[in-house]
Amino acid sequence: MKIETPKIMVEDGVRLAPSILSADFARLGEQVAQAEEAGASRIHVDVMDGHFVPNISFGASIVQSIRPVTRLLLEIHLMISDPDFFLEQFVEAGGDSFLVHWEGNNNLYRTIRRIKELEKPVGVVIDPATPATVLQDILGEVNLVLVMTINPGFGGQRFLEMTVPKIRQVRQMIAEVNPNCELELDGGIDATTAPTGVAAGANVLVAGSAIFDDADGVAAGMKRLQQAINQVGTS
Ligand code: DX5
Ligand code: ZN
Repeated sequence: MKIETPKIMVEDGVRLAPSILSADFARLGEQVAQAEEAGASRIHVDVMDGHFVPNISFGASIVQSIRPVTRLLLEIHLMISDPDFFLEQFVEAGGDSFLVHWEGNNNLYRTIRRIKELEKPVGVVIDPATPATVLQDILGEVNLVLVMTINPGFGGQRFLEMTVPKIRQVRQMIAEVNPNCELELDGGIDATTAPTGVAAGANVLVAGSAIFDDADGVAAGMKRLQQAINQVGTS
């Protein structure tokens, strides 16, 4: 079956954002360097507070540690209850961009403004149960939309197919309102699901376990994903 690839994919290519949540923290610098060498677009840093999501990960000190070992952008995915309080420390630690959730934020536009005041790109994140329509009024204000393709909190979960129509819908909205906005997916991305996400319109894919848990290593995990993505539109 021929899968139609949205035009923007062909022109810009699909970018990979390895999520260090699944990295071996004892070898973090080494694995980040391997991901960079293998063609990563940016490093995805999942910050969890045990309250916004039922898991705790790490804070700004991890950003400070990896900052000197890579030239890649460090993309900070904040899964915390009070993102506004922590923005500055992540910038000081070397964070380059922020992804903030629509859910649980009574003043999302304030958060977006604060990030812009810090002169950093900002993305808005929506969970699987959140409809694309909530993006309508802020789509013109953001650099990226991240559609969660799992429920946030843990790596290694299965890609939720129910998000696919929404990915298509968000791609359509972006094309109409803010064509330069990136569309990123996060959760359950592997060589099987990456083509589904790209065919639906995503141009940035986060992948944790598919890269850092690959039995053949980080470079092999990256290559498997890149090959799967390259097949979209050619099969
Ligand atoms: C989970 C995080 C993801 C996670 C993805 O809430 O936002 O970035 O690392 O892990 P995989 O790719 O293993 O599903
Ligand atoms: Zn994430």
